[in-house]
Amino acid sequence: MRKKLVVGNWKMYGNLIENEQLLNTIVSDLAGLKIEQYAVCVPYPYLSSVQNKLKNTNISWGAQNVSQYHKGAYTGEVSASMLNDFGCTFVIIGHSERRSFFGENNDIVAEKYVAAQSEKLIPILCVGETLEQRDRGITKQIIQEQLMTVINKAGVESLRKAVIAYEPVWAIGTGKTATPNQAQEVHVFIRNSIGTQDINIAKESTILYGGSVKASNAAELFAMPDIDGGLIGGASLVADDFVAICNTLNN
Ligand code: PGA
Repeated sequence: MRKKLVVGNWKMYGNLIENEQLLNTIVSDLAGLKIEQYAVCVPYPYLSSVQNKLKNTNISWGAQNVSQYHKGAYTGEVSASMLNDFGCTFVIIGHSERRSFFGENNDIVAEKYVAAQSEKLIPILCVGETLEQRDRGITKQIIQEQLMTVINKAGVESLRKAVIAYEPVWAIGTGKTATPNQAQEVHVFIRNSIGTQDINIAKESTILYGGSVKASNAAELFAMPDIDGGLIGGASLVADDFVAICNTLNN
């Protein structure tokens, strides 16, 4: 059976006090629910305090980016082995905000994916089309390119130790969620694309949906056969909303 997962992406939000309050509620409300179904990906400076807070709980943690380089004179960068020092399980790779604001193209994303896996981190590989690309009818082509650049570099086997997140760019932070059918259609496409390489890996791959997931729409999205959970931005900063979305996964 495929693993189901809900991951919070805190983006560049939070501070020590707010994080503490948020995690207190999440930890106590999710205690006792299934292990390794939940994670939060936090800004680098908070990894140490989040690690202290979440170790010995059923919530994992991770980062939102990683350098493609292992070490060296790369001012401002953070390596995968550094993330390991703080017990990270996951790292988000190729989020559309990294692609559009920080110039990460498919090749850089693939290099980061490889760097993460070389340190046994589980990459959460984000793929998704912009509104303009959807309107031009090239959604599948864009996603295919994003996916295949990684598969060509890292091999299809690498997907056994990775998670994919379909995040339509037009749905991120906009309040516009893809309908369950729109999301399902792309999830099937992603699974079939993997299936052309290896049918078993395709069946086992966890594919999350991200883009304005809320407590009110999580259930209908997660009920779709090829949606295995969510990558949650804004709603992951509100403890009750994040807990409600996590609970949806158990239903
Ligand atoms: P959102 O963000 O839930 O705020 O739309 C999702 C994401 O960017 O991962």
